[in-house]
Amino acid sequence: MTEETSSSHAADAKLLEASLEVVADRANELIASFYDRLFTEYPGVRPMFPASMDAQHDKLLGAIVALVTNYENPEALRPTLETLGAKHDSWGVLPEHYTAVAGCLLATLRDFAGDAFTPEVEGAWVRAYTFAAGTMMQGAAVGASETRAA
Ligand code: HEM
Repeated sequence: MTEETSSSHAADAKLLEASLEVVADRANELIASFYDRLFTEYPGVRPMFPASMDAQHDKLLGAIVALVTNYENPEALRPTLETLGAKHDSWGVLPEHYTAVAGCLLATLRDFAGDAFTPEVEGAWVRAYTFAAGTMMQGAAVGASETRAA
């Protein structure tokens, strides 16, 4: 990794941490609002998830916190994200679903962070999500080719 890349990750990590602090008190409300928005805008994805979403809320929040707190060294997240992506593939999650989730997540963060959601902060979230989703989809592709080879 070049100096430039690691320092831009460090700058993004600070922006992400600061904006997560702004919404920390309402994190559970934020996650619930995200799923409400997702299921309203994309009702077709609702059946992929279990009827009771409580555990899923905690898992997604945990994944977001892990992404933000490790973002200074995102390569360390790669194996976990690839495995997570392969699981998502087995649940029927497609690339267009990642785009849908991106839009809903950013809109929810914007709602909750208010003025703190500056263009700079938005850029950091877009880059972090693109990294996470891209790595998950790579893991899905590897998982699928391994299944075909088996
Ligand atoms: C960067 C994007 C995403 C992250 C970080 C993420 C995170 C997670 C995590 C941590 C879990 C729990 C995994 C486990 O129980 O082992 C999960 C489960 C799941 N996710 Fe995602 N996810 C993402 C994108 C998506 C997308 C785009 C969809 C499709 C709409 C989706 C649908 C699901 C489903 C259906 C489950 C399983 C629920 C269950 O049956 O328990 N996820 N996700």
